[in-house]
Amino acid sequence: MIKIAILGFGTVGSGVYEVLNKNRIEIAHNAAEEIEVKYIVDIRDFSGTEVESLVTKDFSVVESDPEVSIVVETIGGARIAYDYTKRALLAGKSVITSNKELVAKHGLELISIARERNLNYLFEASVGGGIPIISPITQCLTGNELDEIYGILNGTTNFILTSMVQDGASFEDALKEAQKRGYAELDPTADVEGIDAARKICILADLCFGKNVNPDSVGRKGISSVTLADVEYARRLGYKIKLLGRAYKMPLGRIAAYVAPHLISKTSLLSNVDGVMNGIVVHGNAIGECMFYGAGAGKLPTASAVVADIIDAVKHMKSRKYLGWDEAEEGYVVPASELVSRWYVRTGSGLKAIGEAFGDLRLISYPGEYPGAGPGEYAFATPEMSENELDEKLAGMDVRSKFRILD
Ligand code: HSE
Repeated sequence: MIKIAILGFGTVGSGVYEVLNKNRIEIAHNAAEEIEVKYIVDIRDFSGTEVESLVTKDFSVVESDPEVSIVVETIGGARIAYDYTKRALLAGKSVITSNKELVAKHGLELISIARERNLNYLFEASVGGGIPIISPITQCLTGNELDEIYGILNGTTNFILTSMVQDGASFEDALKEAQKRGYAELDPTADVEGIDAARKICILADLCFGKNVNPDSVGRKGISSVTLADVEYARRLGYKIKLLGRAYKMPLGRIAAYVAPHLISKTSLLSNVDGVMNGIVVHGNAIGECMFYGAGAGKLPTASAVVADIIDAVKHMKSRKYLGWDEAEEGYVVPASELVSRWYVRTGSGLKAIGEAFGDLRLISYPGEYPGAGPGEYAFATPEMSENELDEKLAGMDVRSKFRILD
């Protein structure tokens, strides 16, 4: 019998408890051990509920109990969760987490503590919710040299963009619905402004390319600047707007990583990843392109990944599962502005300015012919160029939107 503790009994923590109970027989069979939740650590009051007898507010009870060999951290954030994770590892317990903020910021240190003590620190649920992506990258695709990973990494923003496009919902109503369904972070800014996706692309880049990518080095643009006019102009071109996280191998072994809205072709698989679903594309020199699709957020999908990690930790009690990356040298992460692509631009500047900067271009829209557009507005797509080149051409113009086109 393996005894575990769950830290934080919110959406994910209670989902883990539910899945452990619901699938008790299958899980015991797959882990070749019974798994029992001995403690739930949460500062809230759970009296009168079925978990009342398991709840404690005091983490040191877990820390000092030698019977507990696995701790599940579903608190979120990088403060208390960091403290408890470190203490749990130092007390000889493996830790499983869904906390992308903590893994992106402190993963390198926590993995090294786990490694020194032959413990597991596993975080499949930190990226893509229920989608298996960490294990495929670190197991099934390790025969490849990977050169690119990108995808729809945030369920809340994908849910909002999909509701705006398909149902004409307002941004605010779509966000409220996402929060009601338990997809959004406590502070929705982290979703809407691409902070959550930036943490996830860091973790993916860490694992794909083997060196630490600090979330502060990731360029970031969220969806608050996307308008219904952009959605309409993208549609006319045969594209959909999606928020993507992307990490790309540059010359000399450097990495570019960023999060931004992109125009992606309606014929691509990724453009049909709608609602709360996530889709992640990995490119390797043997596999070519490989896509992973599934529920990127939500109670039970995320719990599904956490529980799989618990089972994996049980199976790797004696010899830890290798998972990790190394410290990066100075200059390893370079700005994505060096990356070349075509661009979609919406501007309030006139034809003269557009012509002088870009020469002959096919316009997507003219002022006055789309009711949702701003006054005097044109939209167009550019030939391939880097963001630096684009910004030089756009200098002095009234730029209202500027998104990469992923061809
Ligand atoms: N807020 C996150 C999302 C939760 O919407 O994708 C899952 O990481």
